[in-house]
Parts: sequence; structure tokens; C-alpha cells
Amino acid sequence: MIYLDNAATTLVKPRAVGEAVRRALVSAAGYARGGYEAASRAGNLVYDCREQAAALFGLSDPARVIFTLNATHALNLAIHALVRPGAKIAVSGFEHNAVMRPLALRKIRPAVLKTPLWEPETAVQSVKDALADGAEIFILNHVSNVFGYALPLDEIAPLLTAAGVPLILDASQSAGVVPLDVSRYPCLAAVCMPGHKALYGPMGTGVLLALDERLASRPLMAGGTGSRSEEMAQPDFLPDAQESGTPNVPGLAGLAAGIRFVRSVGPENILAHERRLAQETARALEGNGLLEVFSNPAQTGVLSVRFRDIPAESAAEQLARQGIAVRAGLHCAPLAHRTAGTEQTGTVRLSFGFYSTAGQAEQAAKAFKLVKKL
Ligand code: ALA
Repeated sequence: MIYLDNAATTLVKPRAVGEAVRRALVSAAGYARGGYEAASRAGNLVYDCREQAAALFGLSDPARVIFTLNATHALNLAIHALVRPGAKIAVSGFEHNAVMRPLALRKIRPAVLKTPLWEPETAVQSVKDALADGAEIFILNHVSNVFGYALPLDEIAPLLTAAGVPLILDASQSAGVVPLDVSRYPCLAAVCMPGHKALYGPMGTGVLLALDERLASRPLMAGGTGSRSEEMAQPDFLPDAQESGTPNVPGLAGLAAGIRFVRSVGPENILAHERRLAQETARALEGNGLLEVFSNPAQTGVLSVRFRDIPAESAAEQLARQGIAVRAGLHCAPLAHRTAGTEQTGTVRLSFGFYSTAGQAEQAAKAFKLVKKL
């Protein structure tokens, strides 16, 4: 199989990740709830992961690294703590259902910014307009999971900082790929990300960087934390405020190994490799007259295409039969498809990882030539 669905989950991981998971599984227990050796090991493994994440994202205090099940969980925690009912909220035109559904659940209808594909200036102007219109909080998708388009954070963040308006950043597709130093963006209130994508951790791991104090006092869940057990009230300090119950210690041991790997290679080098593969594949696919290719030199390693008259799902099935694993449809991000004008058809998405090769990209492009209208 040629795996090109790294935007969903990286399947090929550094060897150290699996080894760390296996070691933790048989040697760690009783996280934060015992003084024996296995409990200390669990505590050390989780703390190591906190330190790795803090170091990767320029966070001075590892206690502000909150572990979650995935990016969706992290976004729910952030939205619960930071978005009050009735608030004027602005979101990009690329938000995933992990943002739109928690807002809908709270009957919050956000203003959707004008963020057309590959037009960063329009996005910046739209942010200015939303601020002039009184937007009180922004949720922005850093990199689109459908198109690999990165919003111009460097231009947008200073506007929000100057206005004193907080930002929840959905870094699901950027964490580990697009270098991010949170200390450069004072407007950041929360950064949400999965562990299982470009941080190369196992599924069932996610991270919330809790930069706003309110995240310590408005937990989504409450329960045992191993701290202040005599009190009925949930601890009001991080990370305990947001981490109730036994965490996924083997998963976090694996995630720590994944983040170490990312730090050792460098997100910028991973991005360069994946971007090169996406661009080469785009060039190869552009020669296929049946296809529309959504490509831009600035995109990450996520590439969407659509056949002019073959449904995306049928194309992906035919590709799967040829051993090419891609994702088709709306990618849980109908808003992104509305923004790009692909809402009716969806797209076929190829997404590259660090272990993807030029040979695999070539073979995938060849396989597209054999896809037929059935
Ligand atoms: N949101 C993930 C994707 O884009 C799962 O595939």
C-alpha cells in the first residue's frame, strides 16, 4: 500500500514511537496516584511529553500543555472555556466540524471571514473588517486539512494582539510541520492539535496549549486528578484543572518520542519535503485533462484534486484497489469546501508525510490515469 492519508493520521511512525508505547505499557501504572516505581515512571513519561511539547512550541511553562484524546477534544475544551454564549465570534472559511459543531451545539453562529483559497491579503482585510465589526474572539484554522492552505498568521496575529482579541488556533494540520513559536503571538489563547498526525504520536493523543488563564477555571470535565483529593471542587491550576482521570500514558510516551523526532529533524525540513512531493504530484496530475488540481507553491503537503465527471468516492475506491490510500469527500470540513467551491463534489485528497517518497508520489500519479467513470 502507498499511504497518502497522512492528514488523517500518520501511519508510518519513527521506530522509537512504537518502542516507547510498548515499554510504557508494561512498565508504567498508577499515574500521579502512587509513590511506587511504576507510578513514578508514569509521571515521568507524561512530564517528559509535556516538556517536549513545550519545547517544540516555545512555551516556557510545561504545565500549560494539556493532554487530550485528539484535536477535537482540545478544541471542545478551548471553546467551552473561552467562548461565552452570545459572544461575537469570527472563524475562517476553512474550519473543520471539530470547530463548527461545538459552536452549533452551543447555538453560536459565528461570522465567517472571507478567506478565499490562496488569497492571504483578502483574509487579512476580512480580519480587519471583523475587528471593526466588534468580533470578540477568533477561531482560525492554521492550515486547511483539505487544501493545505495556511492562513497568514504572521499578518493576522498582530491585528488581534493590538485589538486585545484572543485567538483559538486549530493547529491540527500545522503542528509538527509549520514552525510555531507561541511566544511570538500574544493573542493566542489556546492552540489545539492532534498527537497522531504530524507529531507522529499514536491515535488517542492530542494537545491543548492553554495560554489563557480562563482555561484553568472553566474545565469541561471534572474528576480525580490525584491532587487536592480532600476537596470536592476541581483544582483550579493547570494541568490538573483540565486533566481528570487516568491519561493515556503509553500513548503519551509514544507522543514524546514522536515530538523528539520532529524536533530533531525540524518542522521546516519536514514541511519542505512534504511540500516538494505535493508540488511534484500536482505537476504530474495537471497533465491529466480529467482532473482539476488545487495547487499553489505555498501549500503544505496536502493536495486536493477532483475529477471533472467521476465522483470523489468512486475515484478513491478505484485508487484503493490499486493500493493507493487517499481520503475522498468533504473531509469533515464542509465549510472549507464551500469556500473553495467544491461543496457539491468534495475532492480526492492526497496528503504526504515525512516517510512518503518521490517514487510513491509518481506511482500515485500513474494510478490516477487508470481511474474511470463507472
Ligand atoms: N480531520 C482529519 C482529516 O482531515 C481526520 O482527515
